[in-house]
Amino acid sequence: MKTPHACDLLPSGDVAPCIIVIFGGSGDLTRRKLIPALYYLYQQKKMPDKFAVVCCGRTTYTNEQFRQQLLLSYENGDLNLSNWDEFAANLYYHSLTYTAEAFLNLKDYLYKLDSHHSTEANRIYDLAVPPNLYPIIAELLGKSHMATEQVQGNGWSRIIIEKPFGHDLESARQLNEVLHDYFTEEQIFRIDHYLAKETVQNVLIFRFANTIFEPVWNSHYIDYIGIIASEELGVGNRAGYYDTAGVLRDMFQNHMMQLLVLTAMESPYRFEANAIQDEKAKVIHSLRNFCIDSGSKIHLGQYGPGEINGFMVPGYREEKNIPAGSTTPTFALMELYIDNWRWRNVPFYLVSGKRMAKKETRIVIQFKKTPHQLFRSPFGESTANKLIIETYPQESIKLSFQTKNPGHNLCLRSMYMDFVYQEHYHNISSNAYARVLLDCIGGDHTLFWRQDGIELSWSFLTPILQQCENRQKIMPPLQFYPAGSLGPTSSEKIIQTLFTD
Ligand SMILES: NC(=O)c1ccc[n+]([C@@H]2O[C@H](COP(=O)([O-])OP(=O)(O)OC[C@H]3O[C@@H](n4cnc5c(N)ncnc54)[C@H](OP(=O)(O)O)[C@@H]3O)[C@@H](O)[C@H]2O)c1
Repeated sequence: MKTPHACDLLPSGDVAPCIIVIFGGSGDLTRRKLIPALYYLYQQKKMPDKFAVVCCGRTTYTNEQFRQQLLLSYENGDLNLSNWDEFAANLYYHSLTYTAEAFLNLKDYLYKLDSHHSTEANRIYDLAVPPNLYPIIAELLGKSHMATEQVQGNGWSRIIIEKPFGHDLESARQLNEVLHDYFTEEQIFRIDHYLAKETVQNVLIFRFANTIFEPVWNSHYIDYIGIIASEELGVGNRAGYYDTAGVLRDMFQNHMMQLLVLTAMESPYRFEANAIQDEKAKVIHSLRNFCIDSGSKIHLGQYGPGEINGFMVPGYREEKNIPAGSTTPTFALMELYIDNWRWRNVPFYLVSGKRMAKKETRIVIQFKKTPHQLFRSPFGESTANKLIIETYPQESIKLSFQTKNPGHNLCLRSMYMDFVYQEHYHNISSNAYARVLLDCIGGDHTLFWRQDGIELSWSFLTPILQQCENRQKIMPPLQFYPAGSLGPTSSEKIIQTLFTD
């Protein structure tokens, strides 16, 4: 039996009683991610002792109908539903339209629930709705005085914003302005659920809680860094959103940028949200200006029909609700540089694509070869060390090193030292939403984007989007790749290297 680690016995922070209000409560994100995450926290006894979850939407349901349809949708899934009824007794559905009157009704409704659940007027508002509703809901909450802290007694309120946070720099700034009209930065939680993966958090622990890696974590020893997040899935039922966004907005502005800054940032002076965000911001500030005309490299692709896991799948342009001549990229590879002492001239390859050969998310640190090739042999030079931090298919860290193959001949062989999370920790949650929701309940901003980080990320990406979306002069050319492949032919070599252990 596993002996509990001292950490398992620690309380999970300030989990004050609260009501979690989910706008878009009838939607896909609520059903697939948010409710399972809250239920998981409940089963792990991490939820506050007193809580309620109120799902809101224009669709009408009674509480009972809503609970039943959720239960039905989970019955054949992998949730352990043993105490669902107990959890569901705290779950409500409230029909509303997005009007001032409806929000005043909601406010009264929440006060009534406070009396029933002793939730002390603490609120978390999760905006699981299409992004055009984010400013509307923020304003409605503000104008009905539901955003202000100390609404009643000692109550606090927080707001969670799902991605996408804006469409470009201008829209991200506008959204920040509306939010700040009614909420302080401390009240705003901009989610990037990638940051809640154990291995992603482990990048900082790995780098800053060990002595042996940081001295070689720089341009003297590192040849290049690759960050890849490939998917087998296509656009699915997100066609409307995806075709206006494309891979650069959907993956690069947020997840890929977060993985990049965690890998490249300096040590914060303290492990605390603002200190970490400050260091992240510095990395984005240091990104070399990206100008395609002057030779900066980006490859864009779109999947065509092909075969994945033995099944033929349609191309992007044949997907439901995608225009036949769409030029939206579903794949991108960018070569970025960070102009500071540590990273001068080290290429960072960022790759993400849909309908690729496999689903994989990893950061690859490729070290340089030894300065002198002592073991040059007929079998080739010795291979350089490689460190792979993987979040999918398994959460793991692997370091390759050279060994001598047994026998008379002096042959080298690459071997791995590896640490696989699942082999050491059973029952770790694969639901990153559970972690971010818990942090929001506890008021911890470490895993969320701060305003300047979001705006900096957009200010780097927006000119690139403008260069790529200039319809008069589409550059770089969109390349088509068969579903189930390694992406466009021009990128295959790098991707093959990043996929190889
Ligand atoms: N689904 C995911 O896996 C995922 C992942 C990351 C981020 N997100 C983001 O999270 C948000 C929610 O995603 P989702 O997939 O759950 O969206 P969704 O299912 O399309 O919409 C959620 C709910 O919003 C309401 N809604 C839709 N269109 C509306 C409109 N024009 N006016 C008012 N209400 C409207 C609907 O509820 P009623 O009709 O009942 O009002 C719907 O059930 C989006 O911003 C999405 O980009 C989603």
